[in-house]
Amino acid sequence: AITRHYEFNITMQNVTRLCHTKSIVTVNGQFPGPRIVAREGDRLLIKVTNHVPNNISIHWHGIRQLQSGWADGPAYITQCPIQTGQTYVYNYTIVGQRGTLFWHAHISWLRSTLYGPLIILPKLNVPYPFTKPYKEVPIIFGEWFNTDTEAIISQALQTGGGPNVSDAYTINGLPGLLYNCSSKDTFKLKVKPGKTYLLRMINAALNDELFFSIANHSLKVVEADAVYVKPFETDTILIAPGQTTNVLLETKPSFPSATFLMIARPYVTGLGTFDNSTVAGILEYDHPHLSIKNLPLFKPTLPALNDTSFATNFSNKLRSLASSQFPANVPQNVDKSFFFTVGLGTNPCDQSHGCQGPNGTKFAASINNISFIQPTKSLLQSHYFGQSNSVFSPNFPMNPLHWFNYTGNPPNNTMVGNATKVMVLAYNTSVELVMQDTSILGAESHPLHLHGFNFFVIGQGFGNYDPKNDPKKFNLVDPIERNTVGVPSGGWVAIRFLADNPGVWFMHCHLEVHTSWGLKMAWLVLDGKLPNQKLIPPPADLPKC
Ligand code: C2O
Repeated sequence: AITRHYEFNITMQNVTRLCHTKSIVTVNGQFPGPRIVAREGDRLLIKVTNHVPNNISIHWHGIRQLQSGWADGPAYITQCPIQTGQTYVYNYTIVGQRGTLFWHAHISWLRSTLYGPLIILPKLNVPYPFTKPYKEVPIIFGEWFNTDTEAIISQALQTGGGPNVSDAYTINGLPGLLYNCSSKDTFKLKVKPGKTYLLRMINAALNDELFFSIANHSLKVVEADAVYVKPFETDTILIAPGQTTNVLLETKPSFPSATFLMIARPYVTGLGTFDNSTVAGILEYDHPHLSIKNLPLFKPTLPALNDTSFATNFSNKLRSLASSQFPANVPQNVDKSFFFTVGLGTNPCDQSHGCQGPNGTKFAASINNISFIQPTKSLLQSHYFGQSNSVFSPNFPMNPLHWFNYTGNPPNNTMVGNATKVMVLAYNTSVELVMQDTSILGAESHPLHLHGFNFFVIGQGFGNYDPKNDPKKFNLVDPIERNTVGVPSGGWVAIRFLADNPGVWFMHCHLEVHTSWGLKMAWLVLDGKLPNQKLIPPPADLPKC
């Protein structure tokens, strides 16, 4: 294992897409941002210097941050933001993880332009548990807005309506040839026949789950959220914001007389406006002599926009490898069970008080009827220095504050209180958490992301969770292990994890608009007794609020 150094200079850069030029926040002037590549066991030192007017923080999405909670990155949760002119060195070691992850800004909506792949190779001389790929190709999905991102968020928060939808989806920053004024901005994957390619796919889009498919080629899923899975073949993958999926692509044995489109388009279960446009890239066989100009272009078909049965089947196919080399260490016993409702609602507005959602808006999103208010000091700092009383309360509810019936009349869970509450866990608590979708604004799948842990997805279903019968069907043998899971639209999901990492860990919907409306909370994991079970002191350069 070695130490790898990266420098991230946060700078403004003019970027043009769809014939619109705008000045965006970037890392080192690159869009998408630079690729970080390391091996399992390596230590990363990433020096981030802020040269832009905005406050900045960077999150290493999916990295467990064992004993390095100060490097996790969500603003006001584990650190104060890096202010203009300041530098902070993110310092962490990659323990027990290998696979595809990504990094992104974790403040305001800046991750719309600040994101890039984080690729962890296995330790030297340790092979993949699948065919050795001829080449590895990161494919990172994003969203492009012609207007300024900060304007989008203030519009979303101030009008009380939904935000403007994006103008395009992108593959590696490129919208592709199906959009106006974009054909030169098309991602092209040139391949040789008879080879295996590993596509490392990342959904860094702000607000949409995506279907992805390549014409006339099937994909073999081998990994999700940097954990190996039992391989399976599929024409289409579904990937939520915050999720990563590795697939093997076998190219045709000889040069085909066609070129192939790869496309992605959203999976949408809710009401409201969304961008239903399609990003396209090209899979092109690199023939040494033939011109590809006149070859026909084949196009794949994707499931319907709201194809929930595809979504359910796809997630049911995802199983941990659960081999002797890569066991699934599912907690078999549970110390604490929690039941969280997650959903959207509207808050009352009246003339004397205005609207009572977060930021004075009508819309609110909540977990157990608590819409999380972002503090002005970091939770982890205030906890470490014993000043938590003034920053958060340690009494996040174990169960919803208002009961609900998903399948009955409109569920009465729209009552939302605004607060900064965290759930406190003793070191090494084995946690079972059932999350129930209760949205009344049109049910919508919520990709819930937990920082600092991988969890096992032991069950899921539609309608109301039944605490008597549903646990009988839990999979405690080979459930998928991941960091972001879709709470099914109008349904529930059950997860388990072991709280073996002291610190403060954010959990939130990875749809940025829902996070802004308050669909977020934090877990505070206390120190254990042994020295290596305690949160280490903060680094000297940790930014102050
Ligand atoms: Cu990728 Cu808290 O986020």
